Amino acid sequence: MTHGTTYQPSPAGHVDLGDAELNERIATGMTEVEVMLREELAKGEDFLVDKVTHLLTAGGKRFRPMMTLLASEYGPRAGSLEVVKAAAVLETVHLATLYHDDVMDEAELRRGVDSANARWDNSVAILAGDILFAHASRLMSELDTHTVGHFAQTFQDLVTGQMRETIGAEDRDPVEHYMDVIREKTGILIASSGYLGAYHAGASEEHCDALQRIGMAVGMIFQIVDDIIDIFSDHEQSGKTPGTDLREGVFTLPVLYALEEDSEVGEELRGLLTGPLTEDKDVERALELLGRSQGRQRALDDVHRYLADAEAQIGRLPDCAATDALRLLAGYTIRRVG
Ligand code: IPE
Ligand code: IPE
Ligand code: MG
Ligand code: MG
Repeated sequence: MTHGTTYQPSPAGHVDLGDAELNERIATGMTEVEVMLREELAKGEDFLVDKVTHLLTAGGKRFRPMMTLLASEYGPRAGSLEVVKAAAVLETVHLATLYHDDVMDEAELRRGVDSANARWDNSVAILAGDILFAHASRLMSELDTHTVGHFAQTFQDLVTGQMRETIGAEDRDPVEHYMDVIREKTGILIASSGYLGAYHAGASEEHCDALQRIGMAVGMIFQIVDDIIDIFSDHEQSGKTPGTDLREGVFTLPVLYALEEDSEVGEELRGLLTGPLTEDKDVERALELLGRSQGRQRALDDVHRYLADAEAQIGRLPDCAATDALRLLAGYTIRRVG
C-alpha cells in the first residue's frame, strides 16, 4: 500500500535563501551531495542497494546537508569536496536513523512511501540501517580523525536519546525528559551539521561554535514542530501516519502539556493515555481532545523560545547573505506548522 500521492517534501535545496548567488551556490552543493549519495549508497549487492535506496529516492527535505552547506559559507573552503562529503555523511546517518526509528515506532509510512519495515520486515529495515552506517563510516574515513571522533559523540548522543525515549521519564519531570530526548535524538545531528560544515570549510572556532549552537536550537524547533505535525496534520502533509507517537505510547510535548491541563479535556486524556493506544477509535478520540487542548499553543510557545536562542547565536555571525539565510531557515522550520 502506498498512500504518498500528494506528499510534498519541499527539498531544502529548493528553498529560497533570499540571495541569488547564495541560492546558486547551495543548489550546486546540494546537487553534488545528491550525486555522491546516489553513488555511495549504490555500493554493494543489488539486494542491499534496492532496500537502501528505497527511502533515499522516496524524498526527504535534505535539511541536514543544507545546514552543512550553509555553515560552510563562513570559511574559505565553502562548498569544497570535504564539505560535500560531510553533508553526505550527515544525510546517510540521518537516513540510517529513519530506518531504525520506523522499526522502533512500528511506523508504516515514511517520506510518503511504505516504511522499510512495512514494505519488507523489521530485519530488513534494521540491516538496511546498518549498511548505511557502514557507508557513512567509509565516507568519514576519507575526511579526518577529528570528524570521526566528533561523530562517535554524535552517535553516542543519538542512541542515548532513542534509549531515553524508550525507557520513558520514570520519576523525572516529563517535559524535562522530553527536552533531553529531543536534544539528543534530533538536535545533535543538526548541530553536527552546523559544526562540520563550518569546520570543513576552515571557519574560525568561534563561528564553528555559533553554527553548532544554531543547529541545536533549530533542531529543537524542528523536532517540536514535527511532534506537533504528528498530531495535528494528515499524512498528505507529513508523508507519515498521524498519531504514530500516540499509538506507541510516546507522549510528545503537546500531549504532555495537554495532560497537565486542569480541564475536562485534560481529565479525559489522563484516563485515555495510560499506555500505547491500540484501537483506532481511541487514537481518533485522543486526537480530537488534543485539538481542543492548549497543548499545541504551549508547544509553540517553546518553539518561539528556541527561535530566540537561535537568533541570539546568529547574532555572533558576521552580516552576510548566509546569516540572513540562517534567519530565514529558522523561520522556515516553524512555517511547517503555520
Ligand atoms: C525526520 O526528519 C525525523 C526527525 C528528526 C523529526 P526530517 O523531517 O528531516 O525527515 P526527512 O529527511 O525530511 O524525511
Ligand atoms: C526522530 O524520531 C529522531 C530520529 C529518527 C532519530 P521520531 O520518531 O520523532 O521521528 P518521526 O516522527 O518518526 O520522523
Ligand atoms: Mg518515528
Ligand atoms: Mg521515534
